[in-house]
Amino acid sequence: MDFQTLCVLGLGYIGLPTASTFATHGLRVIGVDVDRHVVDVLRNGEVHIYEPGLRTLVQAAIRSGNLVVSELPETADAFVIAVPTPLGEDDGKQADLSYVIAASESVVPHLRPGNLVVLESTSPPRTTLDVVAPILERSGLQAGSDFHLAYTPERVLPGQILRELIENARVIRWIDRASAEAGRDLYAIFVRGEILLTDATTAEMVKLMENTYRDINIAVANEFARVSDRIGVDIWEAIELANRHPRIDILRPGPGVGGHCVSIDPWFLVQAAPDLTPIIQQARRTNDSQPAYVVNLVSQALGGLSGRRIAALGLSYKSDVDDLRESPAIEIARILAFEGAEVRTYEPFDPEAVVPGADPATSLEMALKGAEVAVLLVDHQTFKELDPQQVKGMMSGHVAIDTRGAWDRAAWSAAGFELHVLGVGGENA
Ligand SMILES: NC(=O)c1ccc[n+]([C@@H]2O[C@H](COP(=O)([O-])OP(=O)(O)OC[C@H]3O[C@@H](n4cnc5c(N)ncnc54)[C@H](O)[C@@H]3O)[C@@H](O)[C@H]2O)c1
Repeated sequence: MDFQTLCVLGLGYIGLPTASTFATHGLRVIGVDVDRHVVDVLRNGEVHIYEPGLRTLVQAAIRSGNLVVSELPETADAFVIAVPTPLGEDDGKQADLSYVIAASESVVPHLRPGNLVVLESTSPPRTTLDVVAPILERSGLQAGSDFHLAYTPERVLPGQILRELIENARVIRWIDRASAEAGRDLYAIFVRGEILLTDATTAEMVKLMENTYRDINIAVANEFARVSDRIGVDIWEAIELANRHPRIDILRPGPGVGGHCVSIDPWFLVQAAPDLTPIIQQARRTNDSQPAYVVNLVSQALGGLSGRRIAALGLSYKSDVDDLRESPAIEIARILAFEGAEVRTYEPFDPEAVVPGADPATSLEMALKGAEVAVLLVDHQTFKELDPQQVKGMMSGHVAIDTRGAWDRAAWSAAGFELHVLGVGGENA
């Protein structure tokens, strides 16, 4: 199938790189976002999110005239839906599909025979068939026979989105063979990885299994770290040695799991079969309780939290990105402040990020000035490269806590720090 025009709904971490990449590969792309601020920022030649290389790509796409930004969809050969799929507000851990529903509804007036609609948002099993298809069919056109409908989950790694968008293998799920082939033709415009076609609800399941698998493996690493704390083992050394086994690949423990994917998507599988997923649910609970575990470590290291001056380094959910969604670092800073500590946070990728009860610092110096303890929550490169001598000069205390296993213990100790590392208990601590 030949594509000239494309409408991408949702210009966030996934939609914006996707729209821009299609535009720089020759398609005429209408990028749609319902957030007026996003549209205004992009129209002014700026970019509202941080991702390495994205700004240059977006500007090239806009300059070429192939990418235009709008608050409303228009007719096009194909539509890509890349809107958020968070958990709902209530505590039932159910997917909030309202964005997917609204985006699908906004496509209806513009849908024409022969069009292709692709859902990219990570969604619970059967969303494409049971939610998106019936909405689009309000156009009077039939999914499969009159227009093509496919689902292709995005599996890029933030920080490397532009490369992975092109190089990763991509699974396309069809509701009929022609839709799958149309989807393949669209993504073949820029994807260099394999394009794998599959049937029915498999692709939705594939995406959820990938993220659930990571979540469970991080949960077990976090439990190993807790056991190590208790019995006096160095988890980082233990993992390194265990991973010399040819069939073992234990992930790194840390302060918890965040982001818009791994911390949410397992619940979509639980939603599909609550009685069949005890391990998945426990892994979520373990990872969700890791921030409280870290707060306890900080409290033990300081002998209490009330009135203690704490510099919390990093707020994003992982290293070298600006994405704060579901971040365990934010949760840790929030609980520390709630427990009465004077918390100053510093997030280099978003210095204005505010945590309830804590003070945002706009520089590292400001965060560390007068602090009794520095807590490393995110292993951003700039934090990994910190000179402990300089850090000590800015602080009033000499306690450092590393929740990422990122700091050189010998160097921090030599600088006079009392360094506590997550998962390093007993005499190893
Ligand atoms: N961020 C990631 O690393 C990642 C990776 C893989 C998959 N995903 C999945 O991709 C999807 C999008 O995630 P994201 O991180 O890009 O989200 P995001 O919040 O960064 O961007 C989504 C954008 O969609 C816009 N939007 C909401 N409703 C809309 C509508 N009806 N029409 C047009 N625009 C609308 C929002 O204003 C927002 O700008 C989610 O399902 C997510 O799980 C994300």
